[in-house]
Amino acid sequence: MTDAFSFAVSATDGEARRGTIATPRGEIRTPAFMPVGTAGTVKAMLPEQVRQAGADIVLGNTYHLMLRPGAERVARLGGLHRMMNWERPILTDSGGFQVMSLSGLRKIDERGVTFQSHIDGSRHELSPERSIEIQGLLGSDIQMQLDECVKLPCSDEIAEKAMHLSLRWAERCRVAFGEQPGRAMFGIVQGGAVERLRVESARELTRLDLKGYAIGGLAVGEPQAVMLSMIEAVMPHLPAAKPRYLMGVGTPDDIVEAVRRGVDMFDCVMPTRAGRHGQAYTRYGRLNLRNAVHADDPRPLDPASACPAANTYSRAYLHHLVRAGEILGMVLLTWANIWYYQDLMAGLRKAIEEGRLSDHIASVKADWIRGAP
Ligand code: GUN
Repeated sequence: MTDAFSFAVSATDGEARRGTIATPRGEIRTPAFMPVGTAGTVKAMLPEQVRQAGADIVLGNTYHLMLRPGAERVARLGGLHRMMNWERPILTDSGGFQVMSLSGLRKIDERGVTFQSHIDGSRHELSPERSIEIQGLLGSDIQMQLDECVKLPCSDEIAEKAMHLSLRWAERCRVAFGEQPGRAMFGIVQGGAVERLRVESARELTRLDLKGYAIGGLAVGEPQAVMLSMIEAVMPHLPAAKPRYLMGVGTPDDIVEAVRRGVDMFDCVMPTRAGRHGQAYTRYGRLNLRNAVHADDPRPLDPASACPAANTYSRAYLHHLVRAGEILGMVLLTWANIWYYQDLMAGLRKAIEEGRLSDHIASVKADWIRGAP
């Protein structure tokens, strides 16, 4: 039987791939950037704006949604897609990573993670099986295994223990997920900054014959060169016919360098969080709209962008909105940033199709350095 969830590569350029993930809820053009919709909303955006910017898929979080409004309640409301009015694909993270970064007291053992809610201090347990059950209740199209992500730098022993625990949890998640045509469960490669551990993790996960593979535990405090060398070490050990997702990454520069090395999917809070803090991503680099230099500047962020937030409103107005703490400032900058990230991905996809990725990346970087004309 053919699976309604599939991945096909239509062009390559060096290690980079141009592909399509087909799901019953629509296609995901890769390389893809997934805006983060942690709590059932891409913060400050209407779903229509997220789509109009070019996103094919958004990300949701098990950790946040299990605490509020609760997975069973989301299921009673018809699932996450219906609740948030986003009918296209949704990928959900499994919760472990957010427990480690957000909750106060927490404990990890073989069974799973026990933690205190960052909202009201209540105690919760999350096992690999419960994480998959929650992601199923949410109606997630791409579900992530529960894993343990360590902060870098760390000792080889700590990285190895977390990697092996993550492998055992991957097997349990695989069993809990079972066979779900049209939906996928992805495994997560761990192993800190140790090449040998990364390779072992990728090889062992591959034996589970999953529908996709993520690389986790990167962009957690290490230099970019370390992140890129870990990606290079892992890639040859992941099946070429499956999508590869670099979790929580990243800056535009991280993204183009990872695409060059064969990564197909990304997510990051950067464009949305930056937008709520007065920062704009443009073809000519990042601008801090709080700065006084923008106070009298009548130019829009980027007249050549198709995004209304980037081509209409003056930098002076955006500066005023940010300084005055107006909600519209966050809305416009988030919109412009999401649109910029989607344009970046569209440019990379086209360049791969046309076999000119290296030249394209060089010209994208030259624009960042040169600044606005
Ligand atoms: N988001 C960013 N990094 C990670 C990771 O290592 N694991 C999970 N589950 N989510 C992430």
